[in-house]
Amino acid sequence: MGWFDDTRGMRDKQQKRQTPILFLVTAPLVVRDAALSDVEDLKRINNAKASAVHRDRIRDAHESYIRYLVLEQRGTISGYCVLVFRRPPSWSDTADGEHLPQVVDLYIEPEQRERGLGTFFLRQLESIVVNAGKNRLFIAVDPVGNPRAHALYLRLGYAPLEREPHRVHWHFVDSDGESHEGCDWSLTLRSSNLST
Ligand SMILES: CC(C)(COP(=O)(O)OP(=O)(O)OC[C@H]1O[C@@H](n2cnc3c(N)ncnc32)[C@H](O)[C@@H]1OP(=O)(O)O)[C@@H](O)C(=O)NCCC(=O)NCCS
Repeated sequence: MGWFDDTRGMRDKQQKRQTPILFLVTAPLVVRDAALSDVEDLKRINNAKASAVHRDRIRDAHESYIRYLVLEQRGTISGYCVLVFRRPPSWSDTADGEHLPQVVDLYIEPEQRERGLGTFFLRQLESIVVNAGKNRLFIAVDPVGNPRAHALYLRLGYAPLEREPHRVHWHFVDSDGESHEGCDWSLTLRSSNLST
């Protein structure tokens, strides 16, 4: 759990106007493992993702391949992500043991973006990784299709491992039998040394 300054955006604007800060409110933010009872809430923040995908991630977390984590603010889920320690058997790249642990599908509810939640979430993931005895964290992003996420990771100290993004074809079948596939440009980034 951490304390999140919910008035940061407001204070930024006040500082630009050079007016005094009148009051501060803090809101506790919690990063915790997702449970099956969260699936409806996860659908609420991203309707495009099938319920079975959330359920399968919670199943894979029970098998210790991954952690499926949610960011909760005042008891309401605002984001989620997969922290991958081993790629689950159902993933098309299951044999790939490189660039782990890796953050996959970091997502903040659209209405809650640009308030520092993504930064907070990623910093909490880094603490989890350090507590698990690792000193690096990896994340992949399409720098052309998703320039703001790319810029955010660079700002947080992540460095690209390659000069150019490469094409990644992925596919999997969820536990409802629905097939998911895609082809993305991907650049792998690595955190700075987290234990220093
Ligand atoms: C990428 C993502 C997770 C970032 O989450 P976020 O909560 O918006 O991240 P932050 O608020 O910490 O930072 C985002 C930006 O807002 C700015 N910001 C943060 N707090 C702010 C505040 N209080 N006031 C104004 N701006 C603020 C940051 O400077 C940053 O600016 P930048 O984009 O120019 O670098 C989110 O946009 C998202 O879910 N996108 C869709 C899914 C996705 O693309 N995921 C990444 C896959 S690799």
